Amino acid sequence: MAQITQDELKRRAAERAVELIRPGMVVGLGFGSTALHAVRRIGALIASGELYDIVGVPCAAGTEVEARRLGIPLSTLDEQPRVDLTIDGADEVDPRLNLIKGGGGALLREKMVAQASLREVIIVDESKLSAALGTIFALPVEVVAFGWGASARFITGLGARVTQRLAGDKPFVTDQGNFILDCVFGPIADPAALAVQLERRAGIVEHGLFLGLATDLFVAAADGVRHVEVPHAA
Ligand code: A5P
Repeated sequence: MAQITQDELKRRAAERAVELIRPGMVVGLGFGSTALHAVRRIGALIASGELYDIVGVPCAAGTEVEARRLGIPLSTLDEQPRVDLTIDGADEVDPRLNLIKGGGGALLREKMVAQASLREVIIVDESKLSAALGTIFALPVEVVAFGWGASARFITGLGARVTQRLAGDKPFVTDQGNFILDCVFGPIADPAALAVQLERRAGIVEHGLFLGLATDLFVAAADGVRHVEVPHAA
């Protein structure tokens, strides 16, 4: 049997997650190659009339362009501060469904939309699963351009190897006009403590640790797609 590609696994996870969308929902549209599979599926279902009366809130300029092209009705977080369900990818997922995100550089808007979402549905292929965040992916940290080198030194002091993300030979610039530092920590023993340290520092706008935000995970492997739900708090 032909080998299933990673992209095909991403598509399968995305399509399962899209089945959760119901008419009348405000839907957060994530960014990255996996989330774009979901956006395309939503566009196809709207075009065929199988899905209707939804409005999308894109998490990135790139998502907005693709969603518009597909004819998905769009709104903003200002107009729709409560999002019913967001579908987004991740770079790394731990057993508690804590995440590293930001490989596409959209972590700030992604986290804002995630925090506004009743349900944050994460779609990945199985290569993203890890026992401890930081094991397989560098932590993206968004910093203001002013004094970015000082921010990099601060994060180095926390124990990371820090690289400024580039786009060609120029700094990568986020949708908000900031820079991204990719920070290799190795396995992070206490993600919540690291998050607090990063959040206290002026110049750091946001980081890619998404802790306690995911409610659902769809993991695609060769033998099928598994749905994991975080138990609802009593
Ligand atoms: C975008 O900023 C990211 O958070 C993506 O969700 C993440 O990098 C996963 O991307 P892929 O789906 O392309 O692997």
